[in-house]
Amino acid sequence: MKLADNKATLSFSNGSPSIELPVYQGTIGPDVIDIRKLYAQTDKFTYDPGFLSTASCQSAITYIDGDKGELLYRGYPIEQLATNCNYLDTCYLLLNGELPNAQQKADFENLVTKHTMVNEQMQFFLRGFRRDAHPMAVLTGLVGGLSAFYHDSTDINNPEHRQISAIRLIAKMPTLVAMAYKYGVGQPYQYPQNNLSYAGNFLRMMFGNPCEEYQVNPVIERAMDRIFILHADHEQNASTSTVRLCGSSGTNPFAAIAAGVACLWGPAHGGANEACLNMLEDIQRMGGVAKVGEFMEKVKDKSSGVKLMGFGHRVYKNYDPRAKLMQETCNEVLAALGLEKDPLFALAKQLEKIALEDDYFVSRKLYPNVDFYSGIVQRAIGIPVNLFTGIFALARTVGWIAQLNEMISDPEYKIGRPRQLYTGSPRRDIVKG
Ligand code: SDX
Repeated sequence: MKLADNKATLSFSNGSPSIELPVYQGTIGPDVIDIRKLYAQTDKFTYDPGFLSTASCQSAITYIDGDKGELLYRGYPIEQLATNCNYLDTCYLLLNGELPNAQQKADFENLVTKHTMVNEQMQFFLRGFRRDAHPMAVLTGLVGGLSAFYHDSTDINNPEHRQISAIRLIAKMPTLVAMAYKYGVGQPYQYPQNNLSYAGNFLRMMFGNPCEEYQVNPVIERAMDRIFILHADHEQNASTSTVRLCGSSGTNPFAAIAAGVACLWGPAHGGANEACLNMLEDIQRMGGVAKVGEFMEKVKDKSSGVKLMGFGHRVYKNYDPRAKLMQETCNEVLAALGLEKDPLFALAKQLEKIALEDDYFVSRKLYPNVDFYSGIVQRAIGIPVNLFTGIFALARTVGWIAQLNEMISDPEYKIGRPRQLYTGSPRRDIVKG
């Protein structure tokens, strides 16, 4: 980061001495006011619950322009990556900063392919869960449990350990997500097949069975791969910030990623795709498009607590570029499966149309986000609703790892330890009865 030719002066109306704070600028995007010395110089903290105006770190991985609706991975627009690259190219880019050349691409794919199996003991870990356990509960356990199998790569400060644990996590997440699914439906696990693509292998582990050959549908394979690309990283969102804060204690990478899985589960974050599809099915049950107006009135009535899931975003105050790409993928998949008349897709498009013309949403700059269409395309592929967030976690694992590694490689990094504004009881003594 570069010192800007601008400074911030903080003065106090009560005559306390004012202070000057340096301003730094990045490559693109808002400058930052460096407040690291604020407490030492003023005996005051800043106050920003929810971090609406706080940059927690500097990063060179992902850039979002919320007003323009722009998303760049290492400078490349998401639209170009989703069209010209596959998910493993994107993983290589996020981890290393550049797209792979032909040799690097082949080596990386081979490395990931060779690490897709999990230790046979993992299946006994699953057996501890009820068959109807939510897959995210299972995944949080499985990912954290990985650290018990790889004592040779848990030192986050060792670059080799970071490299091999990154490969292991990227390679094994599809296997673990598919195992969580198979466990829930009572079918045998499918071992990875090394001759399949990353997305094709995942589809076979999900929908294949020992009784027949599984044919990967290339349209679904491409759609799955694109869903992974669109969810791969998203700067300092809640789960990524969780991974950074968790990793800042020096814990192992598997434990830090498990914390990210747990955070992503929430309906305000990665759990929104599941919540969005449940919302669409509820409206469909109530009467479908004819009931959209009534539903929207509930959303606009704050006391109802009803939100339009899949809409709104902390950063995007324009259309989430991923939502546009996801809608395209939706069209392709529904056409390939002869589901163009999917009532939920028609309902979603009608909801979007009404919302984008309604002042309540327009004035609050609420647009569809990545979760609005992703549920419809995953449901069309045959993925159960309660597994949508598991797919999101699978795809986001590379982003979490890239961000964690960037933090650990920064010589200036410290353990994250925010302060507070204390509003509790002043010191008092126990009165002995
Ligand atoms: C993801 O951070 C990331 O980058 C996340 C993510 C990623 O890739 O990692 O992009 C993935 O989490 C996408 C977001 C998925 N969540 C949802 O779709 C859930 C529904 N959306 C909302 O919960 C909400 O929009 C948030 C949580 C996403 C953003 O909340 P903010 O930024 O805290 O905004 P807010 O709650 O302050 O809302 C501003 C106003 C409020 O009304 P007023 O107080 O101004 O009157 O907009 C309203 C909110 O009530 N509002 C909504 C709404 N979202 C915001 N009203 C109805 N429906 C909604 N979805």
